[in-house]
Amino acid sequence: MILLVANSKGGVGKTSLATSILAELAKTKAVIGVDLDSANRTAADVWSSQRTEEQGRFYFLSGDIKEEILTAANDYDDVVIDAGGYDNAELRAAMLVADVILVPLRVGANSNIDSFRKTVELIEEVNKYREKESVKVFGVVTATPQIGSNAEVERAIQEIIEDPLAQPLSVTIGDRSWYGRAFDAYLGLTEYESPNPRDKKYVEKAKTEFMAMMKEIFSE
Ligand SMILES: Nc1ncnc2c1ncn2[C@@H]1O[C@H](COP(=O)(O)OP(=O)(O)O)[C@@H](O)[C@H]1O
Ligand SMILES: [Mg+2]
Repeated sequence: MILLVANSKGGVGKTSLATSILAELAKTKAVIGVDLDSANRTAADVWSSQRTEEQGRFYFLSGDIKEEILTAANDYDDVVIDAGGYDNAELRAAMLVADVILVPLRVGANSNIDSFRKTVELIEEVNKYREKESVKVFGVVTATPQIGSNAEVERAIQEIIEDPLAQPLSVTIGDRSWYGRAFDAYLGLTEYESPNPRDKKYVEKAKTEFMAMMKEIFSE
C-alpha cells in the first residue's frame, strides 16, 4: 500500500504521524519511507539518521518521483510518504499514485480548517488524472485537548464529515507531547518509553489511540 500523509500546511503533525506509522509497520513488514519536504527534510535527514532499513527509514525524493514511488511499492509491502506543507509537483505526483491519503486536521487554529479543505480540493483535482482505482482519503483530527468538551474539536470533526471526499476516522489523536519526544529519540510513538515511570499510563493512552488509528487505516 502507498500511504501519503498530506496537508498543504506545515506544523499540523504530518511528520509525527508518518514517522510513527512507518516505525510501527516496520515491526512486521518490509517498508520504506519517502520524504518530500524539501524545505525541512526532517523525516529523512534527522529522524532517519539513527535508524536502520529494518526499523524503517525515510529517503528524500524530488523531481520526477512517480516511477520511483511505484517501484518502491513493488519492492516493499508498504510505502509511507511524508509530504511538505505546500503544493508542488511532487505532492501532486504522490497524490496521483497513493492508495490511501491521510489528511491531519489539527485543532487550535481556524486556518487549519482551511488547509484541510484546500488539501482535499487538491486531491479532487489530481483525481481527474488518476489511472488506477480511486484513492481512499481519511481525515483525522489531531492535537485534541485532553480535558473538557471542545467546540473546536466538534467543528473539526464536522468539517471532515461534511467533506464529500474525505472519510472521518472514528479516533482522534490527542494533544500528546510524546510524538515530539519519540521523534527526538529517533523513534516512532509505539517504540517510545518515557524515562519517567509516572508517564507510563499517559504514553500508553497515546499508543492505544494511535493503534486504533492504524487499525482503521489498514483494515480496509
Ligand atoms: N498529536 C500531537 N500532539 C501534540 N503535539 C504534536 C502532535 N503531533 C505533532 N505534534 C508536534 O507539533 C509540531 C509539528 O509536528 P510535525 O509532525 O513536524 O508537523 P508537520 O510535519 O505537519 O510540519 C512538532 O513539534 C510535533 O512534536
Ligand atoms: Mg513535516
